[in-house]
Amino acid sequence: MLDALHPVLSASVRRSLEEMPDAEVLFIGPKEEIGGVKGMLGEQNLQSLRQCAPDSYDMLVEARSEEVLAGAWEARQNRFYPLGGHEFSLSNDFIINLASISKVLRNGGKFWFLTSASSEDEVLPFSFLALPHLDWKVEVVPDAANGVSAVCCTLNKHASADTLRRTPAVVAQECLEEMSRKRYFDAIRPYLKNSTGEQLRVLDFGCGDGSLMSWAFDPQVLAEDGQRDITLVESNPELAQRAAARLGSAEVVVTEDGAPWPFEDGQFDVVILAFVLHHMPLSGRELLLAESVRVGREVLVLEDLPDAAATLDARRLAWHVTQEHFRPFGQDPDDYISGVLSDDGWRHLFDESSLEILEAVPIPRSLRYPVPHVLYRLQAKS
Ligand SMILES: C[S@@+](CC[C@H](N)C(=O)[O-])C[C@H]1O[C@@H](n2cnc3c(N)ncnc32)[C@H](O)[C@@H]1O
Repeated sequence: MLDALHPVLSASVRRSLEEMPDAEVLFIGPKEEIGGVKGMLGEQNLQSLRQCAPDSYDMLVEARSEEVLAGAWEARQNRFYPLGGHEFSLSNDFIINLASISKVLRNGGKFWFLTSASSEDEVLPFSFLALPHLDWKVEVVPDAANGVSAVCCTLNKHASADTLRRTPAVVAQECLEEMSRKRYFDAIRPYLKNSTGEQLRVLDFGCGDGSLMSWAFDPQVLAEDGQRDITLVESNPELAQRAAARLGSAEVVVTEDGAPWPFEDGQFDVVILAFVLHHMPLSGRELLLAESVRVGREVLVLEDLPDAAATLDARRLAWHVTQEHFRPFGQDPDDYISGVLSDDGWRHLFDESSLEILEAVPIPRSLRYPVPHVLYRLQAKS
């Protein structure tokens, strides 16, 4: 089996095996499949990795075909994958498979794979290996001539077998909460309540496809919080259409960028600007905030705060992810990254816009999106 691997990976694995001659090795791959990665021992196909017993192998080796690797290399050259590095870096399956790998590996066990990343700097995605309760050491063996590297992840510290067994489910849940926007709705939900018992009038400006506000119509949320009177605004007609289809009973208004808002003074109790400001040029932000506070009593601003990441590595990753996230919106990362402000920068903008901060609530990074966020509650200065 080792002979079938890329030379840099097989040489690295052989060296590793010299230090662990009795290691039980499982080859996984050649690529991800629905339902998880399957293992192979020689010619024998094993069950899905997720179904393997905990603590059952000393070494896992991902056997990737040249074809998959070449595709990944090309994709990376075109900056197709947001983080470069491991081509499955941001996919849920990759993260979930890592969780399965951590479950299957014994204490001190090693996970080897090949990537088109060529240095540790490009291996930013491996910060995803920092699952909350696990601890991996990452070693990169570059093969500059061929533009690939072998990567070895060693599981340093084991959590209890029970924690490891639960890891895939915990990780899957975390990914789901990020992608469905639930964790951001949970962050603003306490401020979407009306003490008078009347329906709260909410404006979600820049609502995207409506997934954030769809949580206000979740049966359990409705049962606990009651009905809210929700209006959504979006400048992208396609997204507005999707929001309207998703949220049948809410009004979705399509506006043009920079146009005055078609709402009365004080028409809303709360205006939400969720991840909207950093997608706008600096020059338009004060006007947007002025309109928000004209039509709403309180303004909730959700923003990315990559500078708030705890360590230098985490900050590097957070800035990189923030920069690359502009690309799918058709915005040039190099133009827009300077508009992502620090906490001081946002505070300065709010001050200039005659808004006072009632509260600033940090929202930690998640496994799926490793950028810290912040929720600012604002109102007009008195
Ligand atoms: C990053 S998305 C956030 C979507 C949603 N708020 C969420 O958090 O899931 C930003 C959205 O703001 C919209 N947007 C940006 N500028 C706008 C403007 N001037 N008027 C209306 N929508 C705008 C964009 O089209 C995009 O859908």
